[in-house]
Amino acid sequence: MTIEETTVTFTELTADLENPGPDWRRTAVVYQIYPRSFADSNGDGIGDLPGITRRLPALAELGVDAIWLSPFYKSPQADAGYDVADYRDVDPVFGTLADFDAMLQRAHGLGLKVIVDLVSNHSSDEHEWFQAALAAGPGSRERERYIFREGRGENGELPPNNWESCFRGPAWTRTTNPDGTPGQWYLHLFDTKQPDWNWENPEVRAEFLDVLRFWLDRGVDGFRVDVAHSLIKAPGLPDQAPADQAAQDAETDGFFLTGPMWDQDRVHEVYRDWRALLDTYSPDRILCAEAWVPSLDRLARYVRDDEMHQAFNFGYLESEWDAAHLRATIDKSIAANETVGAPTTWVLSNHDVVRHVSRLGLPAGPRPNGIRAEDVQPDHELGLRRARAATLLMLSLPGSAYVYQGEELGLPDHTSLDDDLRQDPTWWRSQYTEAGRDGCRVPLPWEADEPGLGFGPGGATWLPQPAAYAELARDRQHEVEGSTLEMYRTALAFRRAFALAVGTVGWVESAPGVLQFTNGELTVAANTGTESVPMPEGELLMSSVPLTDHGTLPADTTVWLLTEVFNESQS
Ligand code: GLC
Ligand code: CA
Repeated sequence: MTIEETTVTFTELTADLENPGPDWRRTAVVYQIYPRSFADSNGDGIGDLPGITRRLPALAELGVDAIWLSPFYKSPQADAGYDVADYRDVDPVFGTLADFDAMLQRAHGLGLKVIVDLVSNHSSDEHEWFQAALAAGPGSRERERYIFREGRGENGELPPNNWESCFRGPAWTRTTNPDGTPGQWYLHLFDTKQPDWNWENPEVRAEFLDVLRFWLDRGVDGFRVDVAHSLIKAPGLPDQAPADQAAQDAETDGFFLTGPMWDQDRVHEVYRDWRALLDTYSPDRILCAEAWVPSLDRLARYVRDDEMHQAFNFGYLESEWDAAHLRATIDKSIAANETVGAPTTWVLSNHDVVRHVSRLGLPAGPRPNGIRAEDVQPDHELGLRRARAATLLMLSLPGSAYVYQGEELGLPDHTSLDDDLRQDPTWWRSQYTEAGRDGCRVPLPWEADEPGLGFGPGGATWLPQPAAYAELARDRQHEVEGSTLEMYRTALAFRRAFALAVGTVGWVESAPGVLQFTNGELTVAANTGTESVPMPEGELLMSSVPLTDHGTLPADTTVWLLTEVFNESQS
């Protein structure tokens, strides 16, 4: 990153930052905290809420607007907390409700909004209601809250339909009756320990409205809705058709896109109800959909006027590092969202996918679900260079953006993790063929010279940190010119100062492999090709890698150029 001398000083640029009010979510940069791996306060090697509270100033300094926390609720942790046993309590591993309140207060004190995760497709099998359903038996009101069915075959020995779990293996598990005989089956689109709720059931709908109220009353600013496209299933739970199966097999990330369990039109009823509830609080509480749907048009339906406010743009996450492909995705995203008047929510990494530093360092091809030591290893240098360029491109686009913890440090995945340490259920459910998501969930490096790289007292970390993390520790990058951390910090400040998040993309024809557009006073150019090209006109504001020659735009580099002379009277 290079900040060249410009006609204005940084202070002038940031002088008139204002609180955007209820529209904050249209422009916000939201930082995803994965609580188990962010910061540990008590030395058990697992991150927790007091750890987050202590480290929040680093995020305020980075310049993000909000944080989203992955689940910290009471849970047996069969899917790292996405298996909730009590939606209204904190798991002891992460702390207490009082720790949550303290964290929230601290975040708000620092000007950061707080979004929490809502896991509404399924609960834990240890949830009180699921235990009650098992005990109550077939035909009971308790069983109606989940999806229980008789098996097929002469003795009910076959699952009710052919659906597969996203974590591999069948999506059904058979229960055992109190007398020891085999009983009904229950549906779980994810792990056996994650039974799906029955969203046709009014009690379930009422319960979740109440869960929303519980957290809204505590003061949260919004919810990230887990697998938002799966709550409603096609009537009669028909088999997955062979065409859908083929589409599903082509998916390498474990998340299916099409079929009778995904993106049913009636799912939107649920979000309209939730939105109506949120609006009774204030217009600035938000809902963000995690919906892996096949098209950006379908995705836009989740952010209609009376539904959610944001939906992760996974189409962008899945884009190749290729100008034509990126441009098409950006155009389609903006166009689809314009039909419903919503901004786009860009994202490159999260706790479910190989980090973009590692992804972009792999030969082109489908995105793997985790990388093992025996797999082709990413080229770290190339991956980091492209990741920085991809980030600078993302942060120049209008709309909101999500940043996954550690990407501001340029962290790669752990790509040689000992298989015995893997905890993602995908690993065993796939018969040890798919590594799963542990590699992107490794505890963060804070201080290079501390044990456990400063993750917590004593140095314990629930997953080992790869050797490369020491040099990437936050204290090695803090205020170090050219570091990835400083690139993020500067980009966030300029993004705000130049109002890029509310601007418009104006394409400029350029060399093949180069993506070039204007957004307000800036020209943005990203060279995804293999050759250097002449630098576009303008005054270099920043670049994704330090540049010595300002006349050329090297390969795998993004630059922000000032095209109009900034006039002080405008500020
Ligand atoms: C979402 C979460 C993922 C989890 C799954 C099941 O996709 O992001 O981590 O495993 O839902 O809850
Ligand atoms: Ca801890």
